[in-house]
Amino acid sequence: MDGNGRWATRRGLPRSAGHRAGARAVRRLVEAAARHPAIAALTLYAFSSDNWRRPADEVAALMRLFERHLRIESPRCAANSVRLEIVGRRDRLDPRLRAAIDAAELATRGGAHLHLRIAVDYSARDAIAARQLLPDVDLLIRTGGERRLSDFLLWESAYAELVFVEQMWPDFTAADLAAALTEFHTRARRFGALPAAALGATS
Ligand code: IPE
Ligand code: MG
Repeated sequence: MDGNGRWATRRGLPRSAGHRAGARAVRRLVEAAARHPAIAALTLYAFSSDNWRRPADEVAALMRLFERHLRIESPRCAANSVRLEIVGRRDRLDPRLRAAIDAAELATRGGAHLHLRIAVDYSARDAIAARQLLPDVDLLIRTGGERRLSDFLLWESAYAELVFVEQMWPDFTAADLAAALTEFHTRARRFGALPAAALGATS
């Protein structure tokens, strides 16, 4: 979820307004993903372990936003059978946020429609070193025009199809998600083997 800050700056708004718009985009995209029959799991990169290097007021605003949205969204997630899980380090989070995470995970644990993971204080390198690995990623979408992984799901993305989109995260829509899935389905995934046609030709 990249591009909140630039989205706001371009509109003459403070970066915190971009993060609020980003949170509204999360709601839209989670609803779209939950409705989509091909999507069983979605992991959103909300806050990387390197984001602690941002100004304290921006970090504090982000943490408040996470806590508020966890409390607001978890009943909606439970009602829509969305299972919420927060991945990343918890020991550096405020106890209030940790309590909101625990409550949201407990309230949504039965969700079977969509497994929604939110990465907070997450570093793929740290996760690999601590052997805290997640299921393999099929499709990795990065918004905001950058073409790098920025320490996100490095191990799990060994064979992920990568899609980079120019839209800033607050502008990313359900239609953009559908377009990325269409792009995904055009990719020939061979996992190092040969295409099925070539294998057939040798037998
Ligand atoms: C959101 O976008 C990602 C978060 C860390 C919350 P950014 O805050 O990185 O926005 P840009 O890249 O500065 O535009
Ligand atoms: Mg960014």
